[in-house]
Amino acid sequence: MTRPLLEFDHVEVSYDGTPVVHDVSLPVSEGEVVCIVGESGSGKSTLVRAAMGQLGRRGCVTRGDIWYKGESIPDLAPRRMRELCGSELALVFQDCLASLTPIRRIGDQVFEAMGSHRRISREESDGLASKMFERLGLSDPERVLASYPFELSGGMGQRVGIAIALLGEPQVLFADEPTSALDVIAQAQVVRLLTRVNRELGTTIVLVTHNMAVVEAMADHVLVLRDGRVEEVGPAKQVLEAPTAAYTRELISATPRLAAIGS
Ligand SMILES: Nc1ncnc2c1ncn2[C@@H]1O[C@H](COP(=O)(O)OP(=O)(O)O)[C@@H](O)[C@H]1O
Ligand SMILES: [Mg+2]
Repeated sequence: MTRPLLEFDHVEVSYDGTPVVHDVSLPVSEGEVVCIVGESGSGKSTLVRAAMGQLGRRGCVTRGDIWYKGESIPDLAPRRMRELCGSELALVFQDCLASLTPIRRIGDQVFEAMGSHRRISREESDGLASKMFERLGLSDPERVLASYPFELSGGMGQRVGIAIALLGEPQVLFADEPTSALDVIAQAQVVRLLTRVNRELGTTIVLVTHNMAVVEAMADHVLVLRDGRVEEVGPAKQVLEAPTAAYTRELISATPRLAAIGS
């Protein structure tokens, strides 16, 4: 059996010495979509930030390990971690527009992000970004590049955020509730977009979501977290159709069906 591309191995994460995530194990194989679900405060974002080496000064992996291609993420030197983030590992937030600088045009910010990882001219940066925008179904890429963040809708903003993350050609794309702030139509668009990214570019996706309809549309494997512990983990079909934990059944019945998703 080949080793997973990314593996959470009995991970405990603590803030200020107090564990909030306990003993989480989760293999993520190359090319698959893994969804992490659970109610607010269950440790979903903490797991993602731990894998990106972005726990901040108060946070720390205190037990276990996170392996990426044979390297231990918690043990990496900051320089190596910066190298990986933005190239091999990328993160998309709930509100991509808010993570951009409000007073600078999208094109300037794309150029800055791309320039930090390789030598590239402004023309090349605009060209690559336009191609990626088009590939992701953003019509009029020149207008997007010339826009300020506030000029874009939430749905457009998420697509731009995903496009920017993909410009680094990451192996793993972490998406932390990328659809939570969107209306139902825009949610469905982002889900379709991520599905295309996974299928066409082969990008491995770790997706945090509240929404079991999103899980149903996208996931190969599912991790259900509750209070920082694994409640259930397994193939999506199994977890969705025959959940063993009462908590998973509650999550499933609490999620409204989104008819537009998956269509
Ligand atoms: N920077 C932080 N410092 C201290 N505690 C934190 C920090 N970030 C998150 N926590 C705590 O860790 C737990 C898990 O939070 P989080 O990973 O954000 O959950 P989720 O993403 O599932 O909503 C919560 O109890 C939260 O209060
Ligand atoms: Mg969160």
